[in-house]
Amino acid sequence: MKLLVRDLAQLATPAGREAPLRGAALGEVDVLEDAFVLCDGETIEAVGRMRNLPALGGDVVELDGRGLCAVPGLVDCHTHAAFGGDRVDEFSLRAGGASYEKLHAAGGGILSTVRATRALGEDGLRAAVEHHRDWMRAAGTSTFEAKSGYGLDRETELASLRAIRDAGGVPTWLGAHAVPPEFDDAGAYLDFALAEVLPDAAEIAEAADVFLERGAFDAAQARRYLEACCDAGLALRLHGDQFTESGAIPLAIELGARSVDHLEATGEDGVRALAASDVTGVLLPASALFLDRPMPPARALVDAGAAVALATDFNPGSSFTESLPLVCSLAATQLHLSPAEALSACTVNSAHVLGRADRIGRLAPGFRADIALLDAPDWRYLAYHLGGRVVSRVVVGGALA
Ligand code: NIG
Ligand code: FE
Repeated sequence: MKLLVRDLAQLATPAGREAPLRGAALGEVDVLEDAFVLCDGETIEAVGRMRNLPALGGDVVELDGRGLCAVPGLVDCHTHAAFGGDRVDEFSLRAGGASYEKLHAAGGGILSTVRATRALGEDGLRAAVEHHRDWMRAAGTSTFEAKSGYGLDRETELASLRAIRDAGGVPTWLGAHAVPPEFDDAGAYLDFALAEVLPDAAEIAEAADVFLERGAFDAAQARRYLEACCDAGLALRLHGDQFTESGAIPLAIELGARSVDHLEATGEDGVRALAASDVTGVLLPASALFLDRPMPPARALVDAGAAVALATDFNPGSSFTESLPLVCSLAATQLHLSPAEALSACTVNSAHVLGRADRIGRLAPGFRADIALLDAPDWRYLAYHLGGRVVSRVVVGGALA
């Protein structure tokens, strides 16, 4: 079946076919006025101006795009969507001045979500991930990555990864998120995780991730975990420089990681090193906002030539938002990226972090038919409409979601 989205006010897509986009190329977006997208099954067949629409025979479903703008379906390359419960009590305490790191050190924070997630069971986990996926979809996300990391036992970690995969997500094993209470120290926990969980996790997940931070895992522990995961065939990601510079960037570069994510604490040396490397810096401004932390040095990274992506970090503790449009607004207002740079960062460059830039993240022939339709006269409302319902419809794999 073919789907024709016609009479669009505008269509905007990152220019060219390169990935990742760096420097000036990050802000190069092709904009067509009075445009169409023609999808054949799951794939985009053509995009163009209405006046160049070819004659179409056969079975074509038409979607009226008048008053709408099309951008590529958004790609969220960093979420923690497999969780139970919430952290609304903690949120209220933080509003009164309590610190995120101190709540974590006192056995709250991540560990309180571990308790709630373990209690869900496999069916509950599946329902939670599907529910969160539907929230993301409504906000324009057609591809999401999600991490385990709130199980930290064999059963719940593997159930989380299966739930993510079966909900259509890209699973990442965050086996090194925190040390669960049944272990005395990080070393003993890693002995268990690498021997008992990694072999099966590597069958389901595409990547592994570690929280390299004061109070979580140090650089030596992160190295041990990531090297074992790499040997098991997983791509590597790191949570790094969230509160302190603890060696995440050099380690990511040395190990050939796909990304290092957060970077709120990254200084000039880190910016320079990342810019000279193949590691993508994943910026999570909603998390910085939610925790009232400094924003990552996004402008310096882009200007130095680093590859950057934008993501939500959707999770119940440090970033309770599923909205990439909101993240684009924060990118424009807090990170000083243009709407065009923000669009490329949460499409092409996020797809690159997930190893999929050849097939998602652009509106171009041969790419998967993933389209976010904006209820706006100009595609830049994606970043401009702060907290608004800017996404009106989403097409995923050629089907209206
Ligand atoms: O990316 N920093 C580590 N992990 C998550 C937060 C997890 C939580 O607070 O539950 C993050 O911010
Ligand atoms: Fe995260």
